[in-house]
Amino acid sequence: MKLVSIVGARPQFIKLKPISEQLSKTKHNHIIVHSGQHYDFNMSDVFFEGLKIPEPDFNLEVGSGSHADQTGKMLIKIEEVLFQTKPDWVLVYGDTNSTLAGAVAASKINIPVVHIEAGLRSFNRSMPEELNRVVTDHVSNVLFAPTEMAMRHLQKEGLAGNSFLVGDVMADLLFSILDSNTDSTEIQRDSYLVSTIHRASNTDDQAQLSRIIKGLATIGTKVLLIAHPRLSAAIKKFNIKLESDNIEICEPLGYLQMVNLIKHSMGVITDSGGLQKDAFLVGAPCITLRTETEWPETFEGNMNVLDPFAENLTDLIRREVTNPTGRPFGDGNAARKIIEILENNPLGKLT
Ligand code: UD1
Repeated sequence: MKLVSIVGARPQFIKLKPISEQLSKTKHNHIIVHSGQHYDFNMSDVFFEGLKIPEPDFNLEVGSGSHADQTGKMLIKIEEVLFQTKPDWVLVYGDTNSTLAGAVAASKINIPVVHIEAGLRSFNRSMPEELNRVVTDHVSNVLFAPTEMAMRHLQKEGLAGNSFLVGDVMADLLFSILDSNTDSTEIQRDSYLVSTIHRASNTDDQAQLSRIIKGLATIGTKVLLIAHPRLSAAIKKFNIKLESDNIEICEPLGYLQMVNLIKHSMGVITDSGGLQKDAFLVGAPCITLRTETEWPETFEGNMNVLDPFAENLTDLIRREVTNPTGRPFGDGNAARKIIEILENNPLGKLT
């Protein structure tokens, strides 16, 4: 099989890793296309280097822009690559503008599209990610759902016939990192919190961002605020003062460093989907700065709670939690199952 993976934003490099590793054990031809949506060293290269992912075969260098500008440039350039490479499958990951562009470009020239992390829904259409998810699922030919709930959403939207429940590729990677850590001593939780904020609804609204920063400043514990470029730009633009020595702003981190940091933290305060799951899987309590989550499985044991306006951070971070017993994100073999299903050609079209 010839497969083209289209990635471009930070969480997609993490999702790509288990697929790329699985494919490297086969004779299949795997071509990696980087849209260039994320281009800073610590938003992109650090993941390829740190996770030992092969360098992209194509970098489209699309960069930042409005939704239409960024997505439109990607569409044009991805189509060119697809005409040149003629793959059997195009793999798209998650919910970013790179996902949408890859899915639309391939489906319109009748190349089968595989959506990894299909069926997630926030039911909030003001989020660009939700629009990207819905469109991508509906133009994809094969849908790989990470959770039972995602599978139910796909069924309700009439997509069950092409959908497979395989588990979450991000959990594959996290489990392998935790397994390779031979340190058997009980985890010591240090007295700091880890926070990330990058959703447009939090960073692009001055009142909302000021509220969150104030909430973090008054929490009474050191907060390591790992700042996405969108957040750093917003703090500068709105001239938001940190008001407290409690907040330490840090540059974005590689994935292994991030996992290690949250594993030893008192907890996580975030609007990132990936981090909610990472916190759940390493047993760190999480507060999610959103009105809803696509990952409600993380509510088990009170491990995750929503606080959209950062009103109760001080109390919520000290709440009682119970470590979860189930494995809602699968058994760490999602990537293997995905490749096996594709090898059996679910569309019956490949020779
Ligand atoms: C994107 C995804 C989001 C995902 C996130 C992970 C969409 C619509 N959103 O959001 O779902 O959770 O990636 O990080 O695709 N910037 C830099 N350097 C970079 C990348 C971005 O400076 O390497 C700055 C630019 O000013 C840019 C802004 O960050 O305008 C936003 O970047 P963009 O890729 O548009 O969206 P994200 O907020 O990263």
